[in-house]
Amino acid sequence: MSNRDHWGSRFGFILAATGSAVGLGNIWKFPYITGTYGGGLFVLVYLVCIALVGVPVLIAEVIIGRAAQQSPVDAFEKLAHEGGNSRSWGSIGWLGVVAGFVILSFYSVVAGWAMHYTFLAGVNTFAGMDANSIAELFGSVFANGPLNIFWHTVVMGVTVSIVVGGVSGGIETAVRFLMPALLVLMAGLFIDGMLQPGFSEAVSFVFAPRGESMNAEGFLEALGHGFFTLSLGMGAMLTYGSYLQHDDDVPGACFAIAIMDTFVALAACMIIFPVIFTFGLDVSKGPGLVFVTIPVALRQLTGGPFLNFVFFALLFFAALSSAISLLEVVTSSAIDRLGWTRKKATLWVGVAIYLVGIPSALTGSTDVFGASFEAIFGKSFFDSFDWLSSSVLLPLGGFFVAIYTGWVMPEDRRRAEFARGSKLGNQYPIWLFFIRWVSPVAILIVFLFTVEILPRSWLHGS
Ligand code: TRP
Repeated sequence: MSNRDHWGSRFGFILAATGSAVGLGNIWKFPYITGTYGGGLFVLVYLVCIALVGVPVLIAEVIIGRAAQQSPVDAFEKLAHEGGNSRSWGSIGWLGVVAGFVILSFYSVVAGWAMHYTFLAGVNTFAGMDANSIAELFGSVFANGPLNIFWHTVVMGVTVSIVVGGVSGGIETAVRFLMPALLVLMAGLFIDGMLQPGFSEAVSFVFAPRGESMNAEGFLEALGHGFFTLSLGMGAMLTYGSYLQHDDDVPGACFAIAIMDTFVALAACMIIFPVIFTFGLDVSKGPGLVFVTIPVALRQLTGGPFLNFVFFALLFFAALSSAISLLEVVTSSAIDRLGWTRKKATLWVGVAIYLVGIPSALTGSTDVFGASFEAIFGKSFFDSFDWLSSSVLLPLGGFFVAIYTGWVMPEDRRRAEFARGSKLGNQYPIWLFFIRWVSPVAILIVFLFTVEILPRSWLHGS
């Protein structure tokens, strides 16, 4: 165990974990679901989910990783064994490995769109196009199978080439570049957003708790997205925690991570919505929101081509630092369980996830298999993978993490792991209350509605 790779510093961990949390979830997904559910009230519900459910589960995951110094499956098996409990707790880790495949396979495709748009902006494609053709462009990119396969290949290749370098040498080195770059790009676009006439309308849309378009589905979505955006429920934060030293402060780091993640999500709204309101575009455009509205709107501004380039580069950087963490979960499992070298594990896992991602990459091109899949399940591969992960696998994983940490892990160990190295150590009873009661109960209720064991009609008040 002593030869296990570790972060160069605790700050390296915070950067990497923030890099995992801040991703497509913040910049691509959060603005479009905020738009779909009508703004302020949805945002408020989301913030409550982050604070009451997300942060306690985040702390639990990192604690388990740091205590066990193992990848997810081995970590749960080891701690359960040491505490005199069944090794079958290791199944939580397996759930995470499955979720890693599912998420990274579609994540890589969206990251590919970001790369493609960065490229298009770089060669100044949008300047010569009118608004309608830009809007139609997203549809044709979505439908272009070979193009999506191409970028999916590039994204997976870049991700593998970083993860293969190891924890401090590969991942930490990459996030030390990616995260500051992200911050600078965001700051620039934020200032640009503030200067636009639609800024005040955007502020009121995102922060005034009005709820015309908010509904029960929005509550379910808010919690699921809380897990997705904090990278919870599949052992990603657990894996990153396993590279911490035993006396690193966990609760403090987790608060910092959650705050930065929330900050970036809100800042992304403050970049995207001013543009939308300034040009009178539609806020509820769904997954195409940033890919349609941003290029349409920015081309009308001076400096537009450059801002487009900056925006999509930002999106890609954010996606990359998250993709790294998704790959690392499965890679570290292969290293720990199968005894493979990092090089072998990264390559094979990368190839396997790449293959699983091909149907997602082809989702928009109407191939026969995809069409019949959609006919049977009512959703495309892509939407099914998104739904399966953020609405089912992640909440389920988070639920069992909360149950294990709150109810199964021996009290003295749990207390010691929470408090060691942290100034927040005496807040232990508060965290324990949340991880025992608030998080699991909230997740369970939402989950039962999601899979319709509890009828949705109860939520609609009729
Ligand atoms: N949190 C990332 C985002 O918001 C996505 C992500 C990275 C993730 N690693 C994860 C989601 C692990 C769930 C689990 O885009």
